[in-house]
Amino acid sequence: MSPADPRLRAMLRLAPVIPVYTPGSVQEAVAVAQALLDGGLPVIEVTLRTPVALEAIAAIVQAVPDAVVGAGTVLNGTQLEAVKAAGGRFAVAPGATDALYAAARGADLPLLPGVATASEIMRGLEHGVDTFKFFPAAAAGGRALLAAWNGPFADVRFCPTGGISQANARDYLTLPNVLCVGGSWLTERSLLQAGDYAAIGRLAAQAAVLNG
Ligand code: 3PG
Repeated sequence: MSPADPRLRAMLRLAPVIPVYTPGSVQEAVAVAQALLDGGLPVIEVTLRTPVALEAIAAIVQAVPDAVVGAGTVLNGTQLEAVKAAGGRFAVAPGATDALYAAARGADLPLLPGVATASEIMRGLEHGVDTFKFFPAAAAGGRALLAAWNGPFADVRFCPTGGISQANARDYLTLPNVLCVGGSWLTERSLLQAGDYAAIGRLAAQAAVLNG
């Protein structure tokens, strides 16, 4: 078992919320990253769910250098290597495979793998990972499951994501094994379509002061 990568927890401690953003265009992505950063949320997960995603990550790296941008929805090693090449600082996956763990080691890129069961946590520990995305948080057991995991896995830390909002984020953040939460509520499609980056900045400012 290799030692855990300290960069991962350091990034997850920068803010209470990691916005999960699916980019519509490169220009939009830069404006969103700037609005989130200005609102107080420096860490951004850009999902690889649209064809512009890798270009959007590269553009944010260039145009918003104080943002810490990573990629979400990373499903395989090829995507993980592309994220690294684009300048992404971390990769988030909805689950994990042995091949993905190996690719993260090979690329020297911090990986936040998704888990929803105790066995998946144990598999990650075998790969030297002790920090996970808990996904889909609300559907998989929510706060109660995280609290239960703090017994057998007291040294493990989580970023619950999936079904989290400004209204319930604090319920998760008060748990001792939660470093931050993730969510798409800051970059709702209606706000993106309206180009309302001021509203995204206001949502970020509200989220940035959430604490446990
Ligand atoms: C995702 O990967 O889709 C994230 O978990 C976002 O979930 P949410 O839309 O419920 O915030």
